[in-house]
Amino acid sequence: MSPLLGRHLLGVEDLDGREGIEAVMRLTDSFVEVSERAIPKVPALRGKTVAWLFYEDSTRTRLSFETAAKRLSADTMNFSVSSSSVKKGESLRDTARTIEAMGIDAIVVRHSSAGAPHRISGWVDAAVVNAGDGWHQHPTQALLDAYTIRQHLGSVEGHHIAIIGDIKHSRVARSDVAAFTTLGARVTLVAPPTLLPPSLEGWPVTVSHDLDAVLPTVDVAYLLRMQRERMTEALVPSLREYTATFGLTRRRAELLSPDALVMHPGPMNRGVEIAAEVADLPCSLILDQVRNGVAVRMAVLYLLLGAGADLVPPALDRTQEPEAVRA
Ligand code: CP
Repeated sequence: MSPLLGRHLLGVEDLDGREGIEAVMRLTDSFVEVSERAIPKVPALRGKTVAWLFYEDSTRTRLSFETAAKRLSADTMNFSVSSSSVKKGESLRDTARTIEAMGIDAIVVRHSSAGAPHRISGWVDAAVVNAGDGWHQHPTQALLDAYTIRQHLGSVEGHHIAIIGDIKHSRVARSDVAAFTTLGARVTLVAPPTLLPPSLEGWPVTVSHDLDAVLPTVDVAYLLRMQRERMTEALVPSLREYTATFGLTRRRAELLSPDALVMHPGPMNRGVEIAAEVADLPCSLILDQVRNGVAVRMAVLYLLLGAGADLVPPALDRTQEPEAVRA
């Protein structure tokens, strides 16, 4: 069985539940191993072409998808909105169909509008991967976050994860809550009421406004950036007051248990949601998240373009790896 329910990865719900997420993580183990080789490249997607359609800025997601595609030997097609005919008024549909007409197998899409990747998936035959759409979802971020927790704690199940900060505007929070709770974690959202969604009905989480009380109880403190680009009004009195109440300051980090981990999807605003020195503590997994992002995205592209139901290998069992993964 494929871990993916369909031809696209638009949200965490496109994965076949807990089994699907775990299967992607096992496949990611193989690609972590590939990434550690002297020549971190396999021929798995030779002859395939992956295009990026990023209508919003990105450092990590775009570069790691590009690295992932190249490590799988796919050809890549870069698209920059700022230097494209989007500036002349070309629509999303026409842009997606134009790129597809050049011959591509997958489009990785980031857009400020929730649902844009879903719309594109109805217009093109290529596989579509959501690399972040508005406040909605960022499924590969959730996969790499779950993978990073599993790498450091052995599993996601049974652990208490606090997601702290601007939940309201965060696609990462929505995808992470779905992935973490599907995998059996307990999730607490910590934010001022103005930075929570208007309704949390159906979210399998608890909510707290008291970060000092929550921190000693967590295995993972997951910080979120204040998404000021999505705010239409002032939702906190000032950044200074926000940091004083909800920032992971040096003093507050001392409330964490000795084994607790600190995570952040990036980009960070050091000194706002996380103190500069806390971001660099040994318990901070922020660069591990980035590193694992490449292998997770290799797994996703491989599943969409190169594999199929029968190519989900047990972790690191070289005899059962897909042939294309072997050196
Ligand atoms: N985490 C994340 O999506 O980072 P970028 O915006 O840099 O891609």
